[in-house]
Amino acid sequence: MCGRRPGRRPGLIAMTRMTFSILGAGRLGKPLGRLLVRRGFVPAGISCRTLRSAKQAVAFIGAGRPTTSNAEAAVGASLILIATPDRAIGSVARELSDSGVRWGGRIVAHTSGALASGALDPVRRRGALAASLHPLASIADSREGLRRFQGIPFAIEGDPRAVRILRRLVTTLGGLPVTIPRQAKALYHLIACLVSNDLVALLSFGLDAGRGLGLGRREAGRLYLPLVLGTVENVMRLGPVKALTGPISRGDVATLRLHGEVLRSLPADFRKLHRLLSLRATALALEAGTITPEIAARLARLIGSLP
Ligand SMILES: NC(=O)c1ccc[n+]([C@@H]2O[C@H](COP(=O)([O-])OP(=O)(O)OC[C@H]3O[C@@H](n4cnc5c(N)ncnc54)[C@H](OP(=O)(O)O)[C@@H]3O)[C@@H](O)[C@H]2O)c1
Repeated sequence: MCGRRPGRRPGLIAMTRMTFSILGAGRLGKPLGRLLVRRGFVPAGISCRTLRSAKQAVAFIGAGRPTTSNAEAAVGASLILIATPDRAIGSVARELSDSGVRWGGRIVAHTSGALASGALDPVRRRGALAASLHPLASIADSREGLRRFQGIPFAIEGDPRAVRILRRLVTTLGGLPVTIPRQAKALYHLIACLVSNDLVALLSFGLDAGRGLGLGRREAGRLYLPLVLGTVENVMRLGPVKALTGPISRGDVATLRLHGEVLRSLPADFRKLHRLLSLRATALALEAGTITPEIAARLARLIGSLP
């Protein structure tokens, strides 16, 4: 039943030809499974809520047994990766712990950014080595997910032996293992959401405002997204203080007044967000020394009076 020989110590699980299962093979689970196969890991069961999804996942991964039973998928694997939505992880852990499968020495890891390995306590109590393994990447489409793993950080925490093995696994996949303490995971994930998901929402505001220029989202994207890429590159190279350009960094009060006139035509939540971010930009410009405290105060007053 267990993927390693009885009596063999879990810390000695061999990396090559290591057997793995993926429970919940969606946008993340599928490319992760495929990459593991490419690196010589051997898939056991692949489970999803529906058999149709599980079969599609196996076709994508290139091997494995499709099933809707998580316990059945896990049998025969020494590494069990739970890549279901966060809300299902607790119930999957209970399902595994109640399944009668022997967990001693196997690694059970989930891929949630916000939850810690404590979510796997039911199966940990049965002897599994529990961990969390979170690739800090945004995988919207499984097909381009493979590329996304290269050189990206994977946050790992959990039982020390599991962490050691997962760190080696991440390196084998081309990622960078990083340690995030379990008590810091919610904050770690909140920051990821702010700089990634919230950025997507912010961009959607901008692209929708392109309607005023007669542009659809796609056309507005072609016009503005190269600017976004350049800006992110600048932040990577210089940090946010030196990367800030634009009228606030130059203290161009008249330009901000001009913007104020067109802001009226935009939705209230767009205007609120713009005011909030403009105040933050003013603080960055002050920190950069490109505006004086007097100009910063004038800008702050003007921003506060914007519609
Ligand atoms: N996508 C990302 O960018 C990303 C990045 C890092 C970490 N993560 C983490 O990875 C996990 C999965 O995210 P995702 O974006 O890949 O989700 P997803 O695309 O929605 O895929 C979830 C998969 O889980 C299956 N599933 C749902 N409930 C299940 C259950 N009780 N038992 C077995 N399978 C179940 C679904 O099956 P059906 O298709 O049959 O419904 C689906 O295949 C989350 O913890 C997320 O925080 C995601």
